[in-house]
Amino acid sequence: MGKDYSIAVLPGDGIGDEIVREGLRVLQAAAEIHGFRVRTTHFPHGADHYLETGELFPDSALAECRDHDAILVGAIGDPRIEVGLLERAIIGGIRFKLDLYINLRPIRLYAEHLCPLKGKKPEDIDMLVVRENTESLYVGIGGQFKRGTPDEVALAEMVMTRKGVERAVRYAFETARAAGRKKITLVDKANAIRPQDLWTRVFEEVGGEYPQLERDHMYIDAATMWMVKNPEDFDVVVVDNIFGDILTDLGAMIQGGLGIAASGNIHPGRVSMFEPIHGSAPKYRGKNVANPLATIAAVQMMLDFLGETEAAQGIERTIEHLLRSKRIPGLSASSGLMTDEIGDLVLGALGEQAD
Ligand code: IPM
Ligand code: MN
Repeated sequence: MGKDYSIAVLPGDGIGDEIVREGLRVLQAAAEIHGFRVRTTHFPHGADHYLETGELFPDSALAECRDHDAILVGAIGDPRIEVGLLERAIIGGIRFKLDLYINLRPIRLYAEHLCPLKGKKPEDIDMLVVRENTESLYVGIGGQFKRGTPDEVALAEMVMTRKGVERAVRYAFETARAAGRKKITLVDKANAIRPQDLWTRVFEEVGGEYPQLERDHMYIDAATMWMVKNPEDFDVVVVDNIFGDILTDLGAMIQGGLGIAASGNIHPGRVSMFEPIHGSAPKYRGKNVANPLATIAAVQMMLDFLGETEAAQGIERTIEHLLRSKRIPGLSASSGLMTDEIGDLVLGALGEQAD
């Protein structure tokens, strides 16, 4: 008898409903094929809910989410609402209040033609970025003084704790070892931001316990350069929250764009959250053109996290096959395929694999 999983689902804003619908169809199909069961609870939080009720994301909703095995988020953000309000309340709320201290972002090129870099092949782009997810410039310590005047002062503190850095670095080394990866690169900016040498020191210290893994160290500016020029040099990357945010959008581009990039917000052993890294694309809302592959990839990561490794691998192989064969010709909203058609293709190919 397979297991039962309960998933908290927050489709969110813009294209969220449509892409999550396809993600959940794939999840249910994987459950049937691999003999487990999935129960979902939907949460309405996002722009519409806020405009109707004035409620952002109350602690009671978070507490309910916490009672599930995992959380799936579609996309959060809406131009009708003050910049960042929803994102901080919902995405930030889930990340910080559930202490999801890792943001795991695989960067993998599934088909050569999707890569904007000349001459790079799938075997050249296959890395795992471990982004710290609960510290740095995201902690919200700081503020504004005399806002809107010539004397305005704006402060945002970059907070790094020994505990926060060490658990991110340890997770990266453990994950690298478990995945049979060879090399791990620390990305920081300890030359200009001297307190960041906390990262450099902890990386060396913890790395000493993993002599089988090659260690490398880059500053963030150089890392963006090398990731474009020589992506094949990257295997596992461990990086602070804000630099990881930036570096992984670059990473998404070299794997074909935001239409394929997914992430896991993880606290090992606890309820964790999975989401595509793209935004809510309000202009495509309700048009059935958004590409759901990044959400389907988020479902894949969620299944992997839940221990349904075969189901996760099946979804990844399917995505790879559909992109390589060009049955899904592109990753943008103008790929020529509708949102549900892409879902149908994934379901069909999953079924073929299972036969
Ligand atoms: C991401 C997003 C978020 C971040 C935003 C929406 C707050 O860009 O998940 O990368 O900056 O972390
Ligand atoms: Mn981002």
